[in-house]
Amino acid sequence: MKRPIRHLAAVAALLLASASAAPAQKPVPPYLDDNQPEEVRIEDALRRMTTEEKIALIHAQSKFSTPGCPRLGIPELWFSDGPHGVRMEFTWDDWQHAGWTNDSCTAYPALTCLAATFNPALAFEYGNAVGEEARFRRKDVMLGPGVNIYRTPLSGRNFEYMGEDPCLASRMVVPYVRGMQQNGVAACVKHFALNNQEHNRDHVNVEVSDRALREIYFPAFQAAVQEGGVWAVMGSYNKFRGQYCTHNDYLVNRVLKGEWGFDGVMITDWGSAHDTDEAARNGLDIEMGSWTNGLTWGRSAAYDSYYLAQPFLEKIRSGELPESLLDEKVRRVLRLCLRTNMNRQRPFGRKLTPEHTALARQVAEEGIVLLKNEGGFFPIEPGRYAKIAVIGENAVKRLTEGGGSSELKPQEEVSPLRGLQEKYGKEHILFTLGYASGRPDYSRELPSGLDADSLVREAVRVAAEADVVLFFGGLNKNYRQDCEGEDRLSMALPFGQDELLDKIIDANPRTGVVIISGNAVDMPWIDRVDGLIQSWYLGSQAGTATAAVISGEANPSGKMPFTIPMRLEDNSAHHFGPESYPGVDGTQQYKDDILVGYRWHDTQRIPPRFAFGHGLSYTTFKYGKARTDRADYLPGDTITLAFTLRNTGSRPGKETVQVYASQQHPSVLRPAKELKAFRKMNLQPGEEQMVEVQIPVNSLAFYDEASGGWKLEADTYRLHVAASSADVRSTVAIKVKQTQVTPVGK
Ligand code: GLC
Repeated sequence: MKRPIRHLAAVAALLLASASAAPAQKPVPPYLDDNQPEEVRIEDALRRMTTEEKIALIHAQSKFSTPGCPRLGIPELWFSDGPHGVRMEFTWDDWQHAGWTNDSCTAYPALTCLAATFNPALAFEYGNAVGEEARFRRKDVMLGPGVNIYRTPLSGRNFEYMGEDPCLASRMVVPYVRGMQQNGVAACVKHFALNNQEHNRDHVNVEVSDRALREIYFPAFQAAVQEGGVWAVMGSYNKFRGQYCTHNDYLVNRVLKGEWGFDGVMITDWGSAHDTDEAARNGLDIEMGSWTNGLTWGRSAAYDSYYLAQPFLEKIRSGELPESLLDEKVRRVLRLCLRTNMNRQRPFGRKLTPEHTALARQVAEEGIVLLKNEGGFFPIEPGRYAKIAVIGENAVKRLTEGGGSSELKPQEEVSPLRGLQEKYGKEHILFTLGYASGRPDYSRELPSGLDADSLVREAVRVAAEADVVLFFGGLNKNYRQDCEGEDRLSMALPFGQDELLDKIIDANPRTGVVIISGNAVDMPWIDRVDGLIQSWYLGSQAGTATAAVISGEANPSGKMPFTIPMRLEDNSAHHFGPESYPGVDGTQQYKDDILVGYRWHDTQRIPPRFAFGHGLSYTTFKYGKARTDRADYLPGDTITLAFTLRNTGSRPGKETVQVYASQQHPSVLRPAKELKAFRKMNLQPGEEQMVEVQIPVNSLAFYDEASGGWKLEADTYRLHVAASSADVRSTVAIKVKQTQVTPVGK
């Protein structure tokens, strides 16, 4: 319908009248003007702030927030754990759950599972999904991902990290960070650095060589900063060479901000700051959780007592410390605000969508590792057996809780038992606990209150009655069982699982085992089982994914992100006695140096029970002979390595091909081989694809302590195309014709 002319005239008159009456728009100050360059906005905000306001900006006001600058309209920053999803809300000033009813989340699989997918594209989706949910929950900084290297199978937090190899962790952390930050939510890569155990984590002093730092412990952090563009880094609790990592001159000023050019914020772990002068001078930008041991004690509302609060202000007022140190911190915090809570362009986020659920399932399915499968034990197609016994507490235990700060409150958590019941029909599933643990606790193991002997008797009875048994065991994120704050005391399965499993197998030899853990475990029963799966803390879709893999609906494609040794003593960290792990009198020497994980096993010829990179499929793959585009290379060149991969089985499958490198005559000790590239291929039955991998020649260098740079030696190098670190399918030799040293930071 056309509007009559007089109507439009009336609207125009009204607008004119209102415009003349409205007060003149105040000019937008540069710090609030999106059209101004970032640095202009930062300097404008900085000059408007009082010293007290600047001090307030760089330390906590509550357990998980900093105050911003209310007078200038600079918003609060809100932080949340954790790497696997957005943690539930906490009360303002202590570690109590706030009891909200709108703070459940999608729980994604633990990062060890993500690493086991060897699928960087999935890592991007994972980071994006957690970022979407964080944004919707109004979080500006997500406290994750963790990328500390898996050095010992006892470490309480390996389940939160991405395995034992720096190349794998680097390739997986970069897309995670990018995916998350595209939501305007900062990732906070942690814990920088050398948090490779939980025992005495608050104070242990780690001594390690520059070479091991640069070749093993730095790469994933460096990649997160220089390739991922991460906006925040969290310091670790421990010390490095006698100085706390959170305000460590070498780590933070020299390496992180100096060499790597990090322009984001360095934040504490909760309570990891210990000194005002060091915090002021050594690059700490935001202090959280201090004036306590960060976690469990201290005065309430003690925020003004923080090292970067009143004590810092007083040292500035007295002239003992220059205000320029404060300004540098404030600039970084303001930059974080412009990237997050002052970024008007950032999306609004989403949570608990079907896409989030589907992704949680996909990561779980692609991360589950089929370790052993003889006699066609797996898959168990529906209808193959009438009675399937599911035995073990891990078939039903909620594994999104416990573990420490990565705990989650999922909207849903499908247990393995429920997944199997939905897959096979409840009438075909028998269940009994078999063993029981107490409820989660971070400082002690609580009794289950159930009689262990009667649980065992019932398990044996059910096993004897069934056509096949699936045992669900492993660890469970209780105290010392994959939990923050402490390590395990051995590799043995807890709660009498080994003895129970032997009795179950006696009663029914057709028994398969599903280990759920974030660490390697002893497997004394290994020769008595035909089917063995390494599963993980899989989150919301644990049962759905587990049933899909067991039934064959999903073809497993996970590969081990860490070595499973025959025994603890075979592990590098445990070979050199207590100085090496867990340390003596508060100091720890990483005597294994660069030989961590498969680097140790291969170089020392210690056969593992299951190798890094190992993982079976329900189909088979044939690797063709590898060849390179040239035989000779110079520093700065890129090697193109090519080979065919064929799916020689009867079902579609994914295979992660791995490329390891070894130097023929190095002038220093080098590992037998080192992972330099990997690619996950998806092939239909009978399909053959040409795989092409680019490997920078300079990536073959080692860190040379004498020259303080990366030394590429003229020599022959072998490139090993492999299905695991212990399963080389094809090797090709190349020559580097010239030696070159590249100083760090170049
Ligand atoms: C914990 C953890 C850290 C977590 C923080 C906040 O101590 O070490 O990873 O993000 O405190 O909960």
